[in-house]
Amino acid sequence: MRQRKTKNLEEKLKVYRHLMIPKEDVRPGHWIEDFFSEMKPQNESSRVEHPKLYVEIGCGKGRFITSMGKRLPDDCFVAVEGQPSVAHKAIRLAQGEGLDNIKFYVGYVDRPEEMWGTGEVDGIFLNFSDPWPKKRHAKRRLTYRDRLSSYSRLLAPGRFIQFKTDNDGLFESALEEIEIAGLEILAMTRDLHNSEYAANNVMTEYEEKFSNKGEKINMVVMR
Ligand SMILES: C[S@@+](CC[C@H](N)C(=O)[O-])C[C@H]1O[C@@H](n2cnc3c(N)ncnc32)[C@H](O)[C@@H]1O
Repeated sequence: MRQRKTKNLEEKLKVYRHLMIPKEDVRPGHWIEDFFSEMKPQNESSRVEHPKLYVEIGCGKGRFITSMGKRLPDDCFVAVEGQPSVAHKAIRLAQGEGLDNIKFYVGYVDRPEEMWGTGEVDGIFLNFSDPWPKKRHAKRRLTYRDRLSSYSRLLAPGRFIQFKTDNDGLFESALEEIEIAGLEILAMTRDLHNSEYAANNVMTEYEEKFSNKGEKINMVVMR
């Protein structure tokens, strides 16, 4: 029974092959030329010489990345999602919007340096990452020191990693990890929706769910 479910999903995902990047096609340092060179500018006057490359690790059902793709149509977005059934929803959403500036990697990224080159990425988004609350699982958090260091090596000069969560414990541990990893905090709030950063904020599914329950949203931007 389980096998049939997986097979159906594989079939469904095949329809979106043009939006998905398989691991074997990835050449770190070449994402824009390899996967976004066919992108059409919104209009000739808005054509950008060097489009930016943004990555979201754990895109869930894709609301954030799709909104970002619409907001910045001449920049390039890579959405990473480890669960194929969830990724399928995100891909369908992006496809429905007719966006050509979002590509998907369906799989867990544990060694980001195998995916992107040093200095290749302009922004990394970690939105409502799994909390892994047990201490013995701390290394699995996307905000663990080694991962933050790996992400920061991918960043182009002056660029950023943004982390949002409703989970206060995870947020406090992330701040400690940022310090241990030696990263610089560029912006931080424990109540994003009532902060100076609210106007530019792009919501995720989890963010909407938790803020509707009255939870405050934490955000930190670092490099
Ligand atoms: C709690 S959900 C949040 C989804 C979405 N970002 C949001 O805010 O609505 C976290 C998602 O990250 C995915 N994920 C966690 N670690 C990942 C990794 N290393 N690579 C890819 N996806 C990952 C999980 O499969 C899950 O769908």
